[in-house]
Amino acid sequence: MHRGKGMKFVTDSRVSINNRMPNKSKDYSEYPGRTEAFWPNFLLREWMVGAVFLIGFMTLTIVEAAPLQNIADPTNTSYIPLPDWYFLFLYQLLKYQFAAGPYILMGTVILPGLAFTALLVAPWLDQGIERRPAKRPVAVSMMLLGIVSIIFLTWESVQTTHWDTIHKQGELTMNEGPEIDTAAKGYEIYSNQSCVNCHGKNLEGGAAAPALVGTQKTEDEIYEIADKGVGAMPAGQYEGSDADRKELAKFIASYGEGGENNK
Ligand code: HEC
Repeated sequence: MHRGKGMKFVTDSRVSINNRMPNKSKDYSEYPGRTEAFWPNFLLREWMVGAVFLIGFMTLTIVEAAPLQNIADPTNTSYIPLPDWYFLFLYQLLKYQFAAGPYILMGTVILPGLAFTALLVAPWLDQGIERRPAKRPVAVSMMLLGIVSIIFLTWESVQTTHWDTIHKQGELTMNEGPEIDTAAKGYEIYSNQSCVNCHGKNLEGGAAAPALVGTQKTEDEIYEIADKGVGAMPAGQYEGSDADRKELAKFIASYGEGGENNK
């Protein structure tokens, strides 16, 4: 490419522009070593770097596959939500007394707000053209402060988190109850009645009702409960004949504690 011809990419945005003329693009060739052709030099290099990162990330995601977790359960109040690693420092900030409880605004708004405002106004605060770090004490110390606090807070968070608990709480748990005989007459009644909606397809219970597998209630008690309800279970859940209700109770009891199907 000839000097002063074609498209040039300026790698230093602080090249002075005061001799710019209207409707005439600036000739950057008077800054030797600071310019390079946009195509193909610059773009090709960008693409190569991009490809390296893309392949790197793809390899990482394949090698360290994200684990499949349990379905989120909004009624589980013991679940400890944990942000991804790159937000751990913000999460950690909220654990300090000066940024938690009555001072929560400090941790959620004021401190992060100050940091981001500083980042935003940095180009105006530091207008020197000097590139050597030693000559830019304000910018360099602000950046160092930021990096050191992020690393420190992330480190603290990693140290104080109970990782065993965190890993366990999301683990996919298989239904390990007895296999339910879905061909049984009792099951047909069970699933045609409302019972299945609360107590689950496998009698495993759910957010709204306890498991019926392993229940200590006897067949007669279940017969009563189906119609009259119990505790938090409303009455009138069963609509059908008494003979079917007997069959249903017998079916559920067989999966109850000591029942012949509860293995
Ligand atoms: C609206 C949701 C709901 C429906 C529908 C429902 N149940 Fe329940 N059931 C509950 C709840 C909640 C409990 C726990 C009651 C308590 O102990 O406070 C319960 C408890 C039971 C128990 C006692 C379990 C134990 O071990 O203490 C049995 C047996 C039972 N249900 C059977 C049935 C049958 C049979 C049907 C269908 C006719 C049915 N339920 C329909 C919500 C429901």
